[in-house]
Amino acid sequence: MSRVEELLFPRRKERTEERRKERSHGDVRDEVFDRLTLLAVSRLVTQGMFQEVDYSISTGKEANVFRVSGRSGFGALKIYRISNAVFRRFPPWALEELRRTVGPGSFGRLVFAWAHREFTAMKACEAAGVPVPRPRIQWRNLLLMDLVGSPQGVPSPPLIHTPLPTPQPFLEELVKGVRRMTEKAKLVHGDLSPYNVLVSDGHPVLIDLGQTISVDHPQAPELLLRDALNFARFFRRAGLPVEGEELFRRMGGDRWP
Ligand SMILES: Nc1ncnc2c1ncn2[C@@H]1O[C@H](COP(=O)(O)OP(=O)(O)OP(=O)(O)O)[C@@H](O)[C@H]1O
Ligand SMILES: [Mg+2]
Repeated sequence: MSRVEELLFPRRKERTEERRKERSHGDVRDEVFDRLTLLAVSRLVTQGMFQEVDYSISTGKEANVFRVSGRSGFGALKIYRISNAVFRRFPPWALEELRRTVGPGSFGRLVFAWAHREFTAMKACEAAGVPVPRPRIQWRNLLLMDLVGSPQGVPSPPLIHTPLPTPQPFLEELVKGVRRMTEKAKLVHGDLSPYNVLVSDGHPVLIDLGQTISVDHPQAPELLLRDALNFARFFRRAGLPVEGEELFRRMGGDRWP
C-alpha cells in the first residue's frame, strides 16, 4: 500500500485484514483502487465529500460499491471499474449512445460517461419524487450517493434477499414509484429486478440506474414490459396474483397505445 493510500485510508490495512478473514473482499478492493480511481477518490476526500472508505458493500462485474462516512453522515460510493470487462453487460443501444457522446478511442472516458449517465438519471428521478438514493456528486468513474440503510449505517438489503411480511403494500409502492419514473421523469429503468430494488425500512428504493432510457426511445416499452414481467414472477412466488401485462400498464405502460 502506497503512502498516499495509507494517508487516504488510515485504517485500510487493518480493515483489509479483517475483511480477508471475514469474506475476502480485500483483493477485489485493491484491484479497484487503481491509480486513476485513487486520484479521483482523493479529490472527493479533499473536497470534504467524505472522510473514510469504510468497507465494501458489493463487488460486481461492472462496479463496486463501498460504504463511506464523513461529516454528512454515511454514503454509498459506486466505483465503476475501468477495465474491459465492464462493457460486457452493456446493452448495445447504450453502447452506441455512449460512443456517440464520447467519440472514438478513450476507454476511460466511456466509463466516465456511463457514470455520468447514471448520475443524471438519478437526479431526474429524485426531482420527480421517485424513491432513489439521493445523488451527491459524480466525478470520473465515481458516483457518490446517500446510503440507503439504517441510521446506524447498516446498508439495506436488495429485495431478492428480503422476505416481505406484507408484499401487497410493498408492490403498490413499487408500482407507484416506477409509474412516477415513467410519467414524471420520463425514464424507463431498463434493468429493474428484485436485485436492483432495496428494502429500506419496509419501503422500496430503486438503484442501479445506469441503463435507464428515455420513454421516447423505441425500445422503452419492451424494456418496461420485461421489468414488469420480472416483478410479476417474483411477486407471484411471494403469493400475490399479479400479471405482468397488468403491472406493465400500471407502471406507465398505458402511455403507449
Ligand atoms: N445507495 C446505496 N445504499 C446502499 N447500498 C447500495 C447503494 N447503492 C448500491 N448499493 C448496494 O450495492 C449493490 C450494487 O449496486 P448496483 O446495483 O448499483 O451496482 P451494479 O451495477 O449492479 O454492479 P454489478 O452489476 O457489477 O454488481 C446493490 O445491490 C446494493 O446492495
Ligand atoms: Mg445492480
